[in-house]
Amino acid sequence: VLADNGGIASQTSKQAAEPTFLAYPDLANSKPSQVPFQQPSQLITFSYTPEHVQEFTDSALRYFADPPLGASLAYGYELWNRKPDTRRRIDALLQAVSRVRKDPARPLPEIGVVSWRGVMTKILTAPYENREGWDLNVMYHNGTLYLEEHASEERLNEKNNMNARQRSQTYYGYAFESYCTSEAPAGKGPRKGAYPGAPSGWGGDVNTNVQWCSVVRTKLGDTRMIIGGEVDCVRGKYTGQTDTFVELKTSLTIRGQQDEARFERKLLKFYFQSFLLGVPEIVVGFRTPAGVVTTVQSFKTIQLPRLVRGKPDAWDPLVCLDWGQRVLTFLKDVARTRPQDENRHSIPVWRVRFVPGSGLNVEELNRAGVEDVENGEDRVGFLPRWYWEEIDA
Ligand code: A3P
Ligand code: MG
Ligand code: MG
Repeated sequence: VLADNGGIASQTSKQAAEPTFLAYPDLANSKPSQVPFQQPSQLITFSYTPEHVQEFTDSALRYFADPPLGASLAYGYELWNRKPDTRRRIDALLQAVSRVRKDPARPLPEIGVVSWRGVMTKILTAPYENREGWDLNVMYHNGTLYLEEHASEERLNEKNNMNARQRSQTYYGYAFESYCTSEAPAGKGPRKGAYPGAPSGWGGDVNTNVQWCSVVRTKLGDTRMIIGGEVDCVRGKYTGQTDTFVELKTSLTIRGQQDEARFERKLLKFYFQSFLLGVPEIVVGFRTPAGVVTTVQSFKTIQLPRLVRGKPDAWDPLVCLDWGQRVLTFLKDVARTRPQDENRHSIPVWRVRFVPGSGLNVEELNRAGVEDVENGEDRVGFLPRWYWEEIDA
């Protein structure tokens, strides 16, 4: 039995799990096959309020505004209202999926995967990740895989006990978002000088509760997916699709070859994070170690692979897509061979463990009983019961 059982409903019946393994691609020798990826198409959006309550509005949508050069990303740090990091559940995404499914105007085909964008980014970039492992919880029902990140207690503790330097660097990212965004489109509504006492171009104090999220439909190989993720802002106007979405990033100013190589490795994550939601533009604020913005550069997402091609630390998106498709097929195969029991009294929950340099390990974590209640939350496995009842009707 795994000691760390957080995030999963109480174990009602334990079964010895047979571990199953998918080996890491051999980067030196692999010839990835071309895996088609369909242009993401937006299904629905939602916002989180300042109190982090989900609502199906665009209240948290922000517009891009050029940040001032020389801006200090350290501004406002003391005002940052930082909530402890907790496990991020799939519930809000399922609320969105449920709404879309109930819309008679847009019937959905069978969906193979429902996941937050961050989880898919981790899966796709794994072939080039040689440091950090991660865990997922997986359930399967009626042809659909549900993926949820499982942060270990250790990882949660790390996040909640960052040292002062890590904390201020994290803040710089949010401060950059403030300088780059406005609640109104350019030329409309308050902007410069609207915040008394704040530096020029400041877009309002950081509240990381507030997020605008897009839920898209796409397809990797022959697996249809619904993916949800935060979108930092839009450029110009919001079209109802993903074509004006902008991802904001900060990075240390590049001063030498080592910095350049480090930045190029980071671009892999920038690339897939944006690619998966159909975000066409990434605006990077280069900063000094003390958080002063030195340059701002806009990148076209689709051009990033060409930027690193042929470099010593190059990454190939085809390797990632090929691997991603194999991971999804593998997980479906595992789930199909160990179905829920006939009377549906117990439903398998899987734990996927990514071990850098090795591969993916899957085991059956527990069988969720239909009577599971976790921390006062009514769930079947990790799915909220209200959702389970909708899909199990
Ligand atoms: P930067 O990416 O500019 O460093 P996102 O880029 O996904 O929109 O996230 C916004 C900011 O949240 C990041 O800005 C970073 O400051 C913080 N952040 C996101 N993921 C993080 C992580 N895994 N660890 C620490 N900070 C993170
Ligand atoms: Mg973001
Ligand atoms: Mg960002």
